[in-house]
Amino acid sequence: MSSTAAQAAGALAAPATGTIPRHVAIIMDGNGRWAKKRFLPRFAGHKAGVEAVRRVTREARAIGIEALTLYAFSSENWRRPEEEVSDLMGLLRHFIRSDLDELVRENVRLRVIGDYRRFAPDVVEMIDDAVARTGGNDGPILAIALNYGAQAELAAAARRCAAKLPPDRIDEAAIEAELQTRDLPPLDLLIRTSGEQRLSNFLLWQAAYAELLFVDTLWPDFDEAALREAVAAFGGRQRRYGGL
Ligand code: FPP
Repeated sequence: MSSTAAQAAGALAAPATGTIPRHVAIIMDGNGRWAKKRFLPRFAGHKAGVEAVRRVTREARAIGIEALTLYAFSSENWRRPEEEVSDLMGLLRHFIRSDLDELVRENVRLRVIGDYRRFAPDVVEMIDDAVARTGGNDGPILAIALNYGAQAELAAAARRCAAKLPPDRIDEAAIEAELQTRDLPPLDLLIRTSGEQRLSNFLLWQAAYAELLFVDTLWPDFDEAALREAVAAFGGRQRRYGGL
């Protein structure tokens, strides 16, 4: 194992031991259906989705979850109409402008996973600035997945491993050390809202031993109580990691 791989597999590798998951990831799905049910434009659903992001990130901190990863824009979302992509970018800009001070104050470390450098230059600059402003914090991690795709992440990790190591030294730890989530705790719980039961190219490697929870609630309706219920469901699961 390389020394970086050994480091990655060391301190951070311990999964949750109690009933509180250390790392929770959420596929925030159902904004469009939420809006449709109310005869509102899809934008209204995404806007309400941002409110849910705010509620859930606050509640995750209150519960003591160490890392929360949110799937805000997948590498496949470019296929949506230009207007919707632009609306999502607008909401991201707005979220950073309105919530960054709170994140800094609350000791949150903001991270971004995904190839967000393909976004408009002003958004890239805002993201880099926001990440830098929380860089001195040492509290919970809020990771936002932007233009993220797990297969692309794995292909990039494989390329980096191949450039550094002979084939027989490329093991699980070496790959893990090249993932964008390398400084996050192991993924304990992955939630998808809106009744769909797919991973949609999200954290495929990291989900290897995560508990999966699919809930019918549409993302804009997901609230503090829903997160607490999800954490309680996690606490009731038996994790065997392939053992008995
Ligand atoms: C899925 O709902 C949701 C998205 C593709 C985007 C999620 C984005 C947000 C919640 C807002 C931006 C986030 C931040 C962090 C500022 P959908 O549109 O696929 O819903 P549908 O399946 O019902 O149509």
